[in-house]
Amino acid sequence: MALLTMSCAGVPLAREGLTDPGALLFNGYTRPDVDCYTCHNGDGRGAKGPGLIFKVPRLSEDKLARTIRNGKGLMPKYGAKLSDDEVNQVVTWLKITFR
Ligand code: HEC
Repeated sequence: MALLTMSCAGVPLAREGLTDPGALLFNGYTRPDVDCYTCHNGDGRGAKGPGLIFKVPRLSEDKLARTIRNGKGLMPKYGAKLSDDEVNQVVTWLKITFR
């Protein structure tokens, strides 16, 4: 039963060894209410939300920042939860991770 309810929630990357501030935010280690990994999985490959591996390379940094601030479809907005610097940290990490 536990396995069934957990099956589509994403898991964060392990805390150990993570140093990139964007990766830490994405994985919920900086702010408990910034929880991208729950929908995209800690590695960004997708869970209940889409995988980002094919999306990020096609999106500009500006567009990524706007999606994070304003949300999109079922994705919540994070504009009130993240400073501009933090949004940029997440965007930078996404761009490094998914070229
Ligand atoms: C509650 C689930 C959920 C959470 C949490 C979430 N997302 Fe998403 N995300 C989605 C969904 C669903 C989409 C697809 C939106 C669409 O195209 O309609 C999406 C799309 C995206 C995209 C692609 C946007 C595009 O234009 O195609 C990016 C990048 C992204 N999310 C990054 C993030 C980041 C970074 C966070 C954390 C700050 C985050 N997401 C948190 C559900 C989520």
